[in-house]
Amino acid sequence: MSQKNSAAAKESNKNVKVIDNVSGKESNFPILTGTEGAPVIDIRKLYAETGYFTYDPGFIATGSCESKITYIDGDKGILLHRGYPIEQLAENSDFLEVCYLLLYGELPKQNQKTEFDRAITLHTMLHEQITNFYRGFRRDAHPMAIMCGVVGALSAFYHDSTDIADPHQRMVASYRMVAKMPTIAGWAYKYSLGQPFVYPRNDLEFSENFLHMMFATPCEEYKINPVIAKAMDRILILHADHEQNASTSTVRLAGSSGANPFACISAGIASLWGPAHGGANEAVLNMLNEIGNKDNIADFIKKAKDPNDPFRIMGFGHRVYKNFDPRAKIMRETCHSVLDELDIREEPLLDLAMELERIALEDEYFVSRKLYPNVDFYSGIIFQALGIPTTMFTVLFAVARTVGWIAQWNEMIEDPNQKIGRPRQLYTGSAQRDHVPISERG
Ligand code: ACO
Repeated sequence: MSQKNSAAAKESNKNVKVIDNVSGKESNFPILTGTEGAPVIDIRKLYAETGYFTYDPGFIATGSCESKITYIDGDKGILLHRGYPIEQLAENSDFLEVCYLLLYGELPKQNQKTEFDRAITLHTMLHEQITNFYRGFRRDAHPMAIMCGVVGALSAFYHDSTDIADPHQRMVASYRMVAKMPTIAGWAYKYSLGQPFVYPRNDLEFSENFLHMMFATPCEEYKINPVIAKAMDRILILHADHEQNASTSTVRLAGSSGANPFACISAGIASLWGPAHGGANEAVLNMLNEIGNKDNIADFIKKAKDPNDPFRIMGFGHRVYKNFDPRAKIMRETCHSVLDELDIREEPLLDLAMELERIALEDEYFVSRKLYPNVDFYSGIIFQALGIPTTMFTVLFAVARTVGWIAQWNEMIEDPNQKIGRPRQLYTGSAQRDHVPISERG
């Protein structure tokens, strides 16, 4: 998959001098600039030249790789995929067009789009033996647990696309991942309901097919509502990629050892599951249910502000967006269009969410910390209106994010500077000491 739509990082004529106050030694480190965003200090030789490592838990100030896929300006609320603003993509593209863009770096021409859509469609079925794999799970298993297991197991079913040194096999694995995720997700849902698996239908669009596999049964036809299908497609676009977040960094780190793509994506799904990341949409709904009614909002806000209480308002705040989340704006509109279409005039949880949003946005605690609603604040409400249970929310996120993970994984494999990921640490455990026989331990 070619990555040809922008230049490589450039070394600027500036550098950063590090002076060791103990030895007096001076070392210079180059500054690299990309096409957008803050310049970076190239510290690859830091340890060799100074004997020091850097310390940056949570990678607050660390760039882990060079990437041409997604750019975020958190202060201005900008999200670009291959240079295109998310607002324009959400308005004008369908999800598969965004997939093509993320994978290949350019928007497809008509013939490329037709060919790509067809190729993805031809990979939507799962190996029939996988149905047995599902049957090994308890019916009440969390669908994210099923996703981790089934996606990891794909490497046992598709040996012919696990050679990461072969670009053709990488491409086949990438198409398989994008195409099969809705089927895997739909079947996880069906399994939890005790309903038969619904096979993909190749005459349907990607999002229509996904809805069909979740909601159709062999007993009656499932009529696809175009407004709902459009909303689902938009939700998938809004979650498609988000540069080096926790799950994407997990995929890259797992892949840096040469692990096969199915195993890497399974690692990404596990990371996404956490409530501080993709699990937030499920956590938002659980929180709204717990709050129950508007009279209780003040108590929850008080808890969130208490430094001794770990409680946080779910769906608020973002590591990168410190102004607004551009995806949340689009998601808010989509949320209202879905509720209108479904004629849901009174949705108590939405009313509660809007009131919580209003109060939090005026509160000094949230304003001063630049905590705004993120994309997950609204997506849960849409999913609930569609009749999708909360345990499936993060699964839908995983279906969308798969293309981002796979694009980033491909980019990493093709990067000549790629090395196995191996962070260092600041060790604060016991210094070396001698083993004491058990009878002599005090
Ligand atoms: N509710 C209340 N207080 C919060 C919240 C919140 N949701 N988020 C951050 N804060 C507070 C912190 O307590 C901290 O306060 P302090 O300075 O008094 O100690 C301050 O804001 C900064 O918080 P950090 O944890 O340093 O911010 P960070 O950038 O590391 O965290 C995160 C970002 C994890 C998203 C956080 O805001 C959070 O936990 N939000 C709730 C979970 C959520 O919605 N996650 C979805 C992320 S978006 C996505 O994955 C698609």
